[in-house]
This record gives sequence, structure tokens and C-alpha cells, in this order.
Amino acid sequence: MEYIIVTPEYAPRVALIQLNRPKELNALNLQLMMELRDTLIDLDRNDNVRAIIITGNEQAFAAGADIKQMADKSAIDMLKVDQFSTWDQIRKTKKPLIAAVSGFALGGGCELAMTCDMIIASETAKFGQPEIKIGVMPGAGGTQRLTRAIGKAKAMELVLTGRFISGEEAMHYGLVNKVVPVEMYLHEAVQLAKEISEMSPVAAQLAKEAVNRSFETHLDEGLHFERKNFYLAFASDDQKEGMKAFVEKRKPEYKGK
Ligand code: HXC
Repeated sequence: MEYIIVTPEYAPRVALIQLNRPKELNALNLQLMMELRDTLIDLDRNDNVRAIIITGNEQAFAAGADIKQMADKSAIDMLKVDQFSTWDQIRKTKKPLIAAVSGFALGGGCELAMTCDMIIASETAKFGQPEIKIGVMPGAGGTQRLTRAIGKAKAMELVLTGRFISGEEAMHYGLVNKVVPVEMYLHEAVQLAKEISEMSPVAAQLAKEAVNRSFETHLDEGLHFERKNFYLAFASDDQKEGMKAFVEKRKPEYKGK
């Protein structure tokens, strides 16, 4: 891997992926995104991993797609490259994904953070969709996920002006889970990942799938989907273990089966 650093056991059952193009503020070039996709596919298959954190560095989570790589491209070049198939695959990650964001999370960087299931931000985080300032618009889900996360009025403002919002503001609007001092953001993300990694990974996968389904369907169908996954959980050893442990007043030991 050239542009990311992967630590499959950063903490017990928690993997860490660090975006690593610091001089370019972690601008997301095509290779970085393919490395990220391949790594997530591997980690999804790794039974020792139950939660995954994606982070950058203090200065930047990611300042967007690589503008220098796109500047001369035609629409047909962009169509042929089909970079969004990489993004689509990342979106299909089954395990819980946490973005640990400090500094810039702009354009594709903000979209990557929003592709994750939860966001922990540092006090220096800056979120934004500034594509409008370079003559384009969000292309990796910004107009859709930001609007769902923070509502139409604020999303419209960010997308049409390219303004940035702070971690605090992002939390106020429901984009991020928690804002902490800069020296704590990774630690906080790891704590969250560890807490999730103690749950049944089968239940976590089914639950993640059901929450995500709520964005894609009407209530009746969403409830139906939730119920099927709820029943499916009863096919797991983890369900038997979880309920038995409760009755026996002990901590459950989930095997992911
Ligand atoms: C390529 C980038 C980059 C980017 C920063 N750099 N962002 N290179 N693509 N998105 C490079 C700069 O060219 C510079 O390299 C180095 O990183 C440091 O950046 P500076 O601009 O010197 O830093 P600073 O003055 O602190 O300003 C930080 C910044 C600014 C506000 C984040 O860099 C900026 O506005 N970046 C672009 C943000 C943006 O428009 N993102 C959306 C991209 S489009 P050199 O070698 O020149 O010193 C997008 C579409 C997604 O994301 C669609 C789907 C994939």
C-alpha cells in the first residue's frame, strides 16, 4: 500500500486505516481509493476484526478528491475511469466503520467521512463541500448524505457556498457523534470501536444493514426488513449466548457465529 497505512489489530478486534498523503492533505487520488477499497474488502473478511476506523492526521482527514488528477479530464474520461464503483464498494462494507476526523474533511473527504457509520471529530475539524468553488458539485454522495444528515437548508448553504463548518457546528446539525480536543479524537474513536467490538458481530452487521435501509425505503418496507433481520439474529449462536449470559448474570462471549 502506498497511500494508506493499515493496522489490522490497532486495538483488540479494532482495525485502523490511516490515509497517508500528508503533503497533499490526504487528497483522495484514484490509487488511494482503490487501496482503501481493497483493504476494506480484506478487513470485512477478517474474523479477528469487528470494527474499523478510518482516519487521517491532525491537519487533514482528507481535503477532497485529487483536483490535480481531475483538472484536465473530460466527461468521457471521468465516465471511463468509473471511480464511483470504488466508492460503491466501500459503501458495502459490512462491519461498523468509524471516521476519526481532524482538520480538513472537504469534498470527497467529507463524503468519505459520511460514508462511514459514525464520525468522531476533533475541535479543529472543518467539514465542507467546496466543489462549487472549483466549478463542479459534490459527486460522491455529498448532496444526498449531507442533506439527510443535516437537513435541506444547511446542506443547500454548504453545497452552494462551499463554506466550511466546525466540528462543533457539525455536531449541532447531527453530522458527527462527538467532538473532543485534538489530542483525544483517535482515542475516542478507538473507545467507541472497542465498545462495538464487544457486541455480537452478527448482530452488528444485521443492525447496520437495517439502519442503512431506513435511508432507502419507506417505513413499512423498512420495518419489514428490520423484522427479517431480527428473526435472522435468532439463527446465531451469539443470540443464544447473549440471552443466556443475561440470565446467568455474566458477560457474554460472542464468537460471531
Ligand atoms: C489535490 C490538494 C488538494 C486536493 C490540497 N491539496 N487539497 N491537491 N487535491 N483536493 C494540496 C495543495 O495543492 C498543496 O500542494 C498542499 O495540498 C497543501 O495545500 P494548501 O492549499 O497549500 O494548504 P492551505 O493553504 O492550508 O489550504 C488548505 C485547503 C486548500 C483549504 C484545504 O488546500 C483547499 O481548498 N483544497 C481543495 C479543497 C477542495 O476543493 N476539495 C474538493 C475537491 S473536489 P502544493 O504541492 O501545491 O503545495 C472533490 C470531488 C469529489 O472532492 C467527487 C468524488 C470523488
